[in-house]
Amino acid sequence: MNALVSGYQPFPFLLDRGVGDRVYDTSGKSWFDYYGGHCVALTGHSHPTVVAAISAQASRLLFYSTAGELAIRDQAADALAEFAQGAGVSRVFFVNSGAEANENALKLALKLSGRKRLLSFEGGWHGRTLLALSVTDDPSISAPYENQLADVQRLPFADLEALETVPWSEFAAVIVEPIQSMAGIRTAPAAWFKRVAQLARAHGCFLICDEIQTGMGRLGSPFGAQLMGIQPDFITLAKGLASGVPMGAVLMSDAIGSSLAPGDLGSTFGGGPLACAALLATLQVIADENLVERAAALGARLKQELPGPWVQHVRGEGLLLGLQTSQQAARLRAHLYARGMLSGAAVDPWLLRLMPPLNLSEAAVTAMIEACATLEAA
Ligand SMILES: Cc1ncc(COP(=O)(O)O)c(C=O)c1O
Repeated sequence: MNALVSGYQPFPFLLDRGVGDRVYDTSGKSWFDYYGGHCVALTGHSHPTVVAAISAQASRLLFYSTAGELAIRDQAADALAEFAQGAGVSRVFFVNSGAEANENALKLALKLSGRKRLLSFEGGWHGRTLLALSVTDDPSISAPYENQLADVQRLPFADLEALETVPWSEFAAVIVEPIQSMAGIRTAPAAWFKRVAQLARAHGCFLICDEIQTGMGRLGSPFGAQLMGIQPDFITLAKGLASGVPMGAVLMSDAIGSSLAPGDLGSTFGGGPLACAALLATLQVIADENLVERAAALGARLKQELPGPWVQHVRGEGLLLGLQTSQQAARLRAHLYARGMLSGAAVDPWLLRLMPPLNLSEAAVTAMIEACATLEAA
């Protein structure tokens, strides 16, 4: 009997362990993890600093809710706010996942604005809870819940003119990813993001940057918002925030944080001590190993060296990359798999996604460059 209800088609092997940028199956065979456990293994698998921090915290106090004040929770929030300096957000509320982070940011925007409508973009992916699903452009998962979804207007992504066609003062919030990952590493020029931010600010519409995939240095900048030159009201985080210990966060401006009353937000597990220890260790590793700069440098190298007969073009920034292929990307994915590399598919069958640990090794980079060069165009 197999009792497990599974969400995705798994890799064709039994996963056993992970070390740095590699995962191993039960027979001892290893793969460089360019999939990153779905963009989660920010500091690599089982980084010793993260493991030591969570083991020490587990023996001291495994869990207590926010009813118990904890020094490590305050330290984690302060350290994250410091990392986000320059993105315009200085207050932190901890949750457990990306959908929960977006759900809370959207709810707060509805409550604080008193408005009922939301604005999002084609190709946007924000999670599976009902408000997050409402702003997600994926009918394959949202259609069965059509009657329960919020009132959302969806605009084409990266289209400057379309921004001028909607009544901004009717929207509580606009939600946007600095790079749309699920839709196939779709980017937009900084000028487009700046216009979104300008229109939102001018009309009292909160700007939510979903940085669940793009945040924590992955793009070669602490957050994508900085790369695009915008200061959102909210930044939502999850995925690699605590190196794989489940954690999400809603970062918000001081004005928003100060306007909240006790009880406005809540989460039993959010900000638990184990996750906070993992977050502090993650930030430590990012600083010690210069991971933000490393993501920028490795991304630039891969963008320059991967194009050839198979990879026509590489989209994205830092270590969130989309390989535009000249044939079905599934063939390149199978070739990489056979040469010991995991990668991510996208909705676009001509695109392969790379979202590896930021401390990706030289050996992994060389293996990827060689593999892309050796697959002949058929
Ligand atoms: C951009 C983005 N936002 C939100 C989510 C939802 O995160 P979670 O699966 O942790 O709820 C995802 C998940 O893939 C995502 O990629």
